[in-house]
Amino acid sequence: MRYLVFNGSPRKGNTWKLVKLIQEELQEISPESTFEEIQLVDLELPFCTGCSLCFRKGHEYCPHHKIMKKIIDKIDESDGMIFAMATFNMQPNALTKNLIDHLCFMLHRPHFFKNKAIVVTTTGGVGSKSAVNYLTGWLKGIGFNHCCKLPIASYSWDNYTINKKTKIKCKKLADKFNKDVSSKKMHTPTFAVLIPYNLFRGMSLGYVKGTEYETQDGAYWVDPLRSKSTYDPLINVPFYKKVFGDAFYVIGKAASKFTTITYKK
Ligand SMILES: Cc1cc2nc3c(=O)[nH]c(=O)nc-3n(C[C@H](O)[C@H](O)[C@H](O)COP(=O)(O)O)c2cc1C
Repeated sequence: MRYLVFNGSPRKGNTWKLVKLIQEELQEISPESTFEEIQLVDLELPFCTGCSLCFRKGHEYCPHHKIMKKIIDKIDESDGMIFAMATFNMQPNALTKNLIDHLCFMLHRPHFFKNKAIVVTTTGGVGSKSAVNYLTGWLKGIGFNHCCKLPIASYSWDNYTINKKTKIKCKKLADKFNKDVSSKKMHTPTFAVLIPYNLFRGMSLGYVKGTEYETQDGAYWVDPLRSKSTYDPLINVPFYKKVFGDAFYVIGKAASKFTTITYKK
């Protein structure tokens, strides 16, 4: 398996210790696995400028596309990802949030449907769960098929020692994750994923070619396979979830007639 080890923390600190432990466990379970590392801080990604070109014209027009392409390509090429970040003020640290901002357009046009991740964070004491839930929610929104969570209180600023209980947890998590990644199983989307997906499927009809504010969102959703499917055509959706998702598509389509997001041309 090809694993991408991604560190959104500005340093190789407490969280990194957990990452290395999970990596060792994965390597032991599956010796042929390869690991590629990205330290987000080394890429010197400037702040998102808020130009919204990614939403309107396409993400290739992002002023930081050269850096972002490298990240997107590496995620695409991986079978599984260990996504690490620090918890600052009970949320992902700013460096990680800056990456999230650069990929916000993918909430409108999800992309990483075959990807799976373990999301790891440490906190001094409180807030790791809310940070992990925030990141996982975003990953699922941009298409990630499956996410495991490891929120840990380190009770330390820079001198964390992993206790026995956490070591066992990491071993079990690595085993479960490796089994899931190697099985290539595609999990069916949750209700929480189907709601925004289908609202965008419906609402984007207001931005297709020929409308006053045509955008890349409009272009993405007119793909004949995508426009007729409750979720990405790669993934099997049971009938009851189709009914549920399609109801939100109808709501989105109706909303597109009354609400238009305008922009200065
Ligand atoms: C700017 C900043 C904000 C932080 N915010 C929190 C917080 O909200 N809750 C908490 O318990 N610890 C907080 N901490 C402590 C870190 O979450 C903790 O030391 C974590 O293990 C750091 O991860 P790292 O070593 O991987 O960078 C904060 C630390 C910094 C530097």
